[in-house]
Amino acid sequence: MSRRKIIAGNWKMNKSPSEAVALVNELKDLVNNDEVDVVYCVPAIDIVPVVEAVKGSNVAVGAENMYFEESGAYTGEIAAPMLKDAGVKYVILGHSERRDYFKEDDVLLNKKVKKAFESGITPILCCGESLEQRELGVTMDWIRLQIKSDLDGVTAEQVKTLVIAYEPIWAIGTGKTATAEQAQEVCKGIRDLIAEMYDEATAEAVRIQYGGSMNASNAAELLAKPDIDGGLIGGASLKPDFGKIVNYNK
Ligand code: 13P
Repeated sequence: MSRRKIIAGNWKMNKSPSEAVALVNELKDLVNNDEVDVVYCVPAIDIVPVVEAVKGSNVAVGAENMYFEESGAYTGEIAAPMLKDAGVKYVILGHSERRDYFKEDDVLLNKKVKKAFESGITPILCCGESLEQRELGVTMDWIRLQIKSDLDGVTAEQVKTLVIAYEPIWAIGTGKTATAEQAQEVCKGIRDLIAEMYDEATAEAVRIQYGGSMNASNAAELLAKPDIDGGLIGGASLKPDFGKIVNYNK
């Protein structure tokens, strides 16, 4: 079975609305590739102008976070229906920066994942180990725990459309990419876990990205691995290099 690759940029806390539109325009002719799904996950304030700027192109827009309640007194938060109405197709949930700096735990993330699906937005669910955990040899135990908790009560039909991003924390923003073998090993472990929790068909359908210092020179090798279905790209998504990653197969 062949899964369609999904290359997503995570802009993190970068680009004002006018800078965001300028970046979309700069990348416009570089990110054409009919064979892959292309997503820009942008800061909340950039969503409306970026949705407008990508109109008529192959690029979908994602959010970097959302809250699980429908609406109400949650100052500073953004609800899934608001994102949906603005034209958002994907939402990053459980990025390690949100887990670490903003103390998001798996109980909260599980509620967010369910709400995203309920609202017709595809979660890009992040998981990944610290350097200490890797050195202790508990990488897969940790990731299994994260995924099992985050997907509690999520149906097989939903998981078939889910995107999981494996992002080793030690590789994020460090220039230290996981080797293609290391990344493949964990992505395969995640797929095996999905088969265990659901069934083979669900495991075959779920898309698993690698993220962590992915760039134009290492993308092709990572994306050639059988269980790596795409990339979640930070730093390199803000540069023309992103176009080279999207066109890794050309
Ligand atoms: P870098 O590509 O900058 O390492 O960031 C990866 C990441 O965190 C994507 O979500």
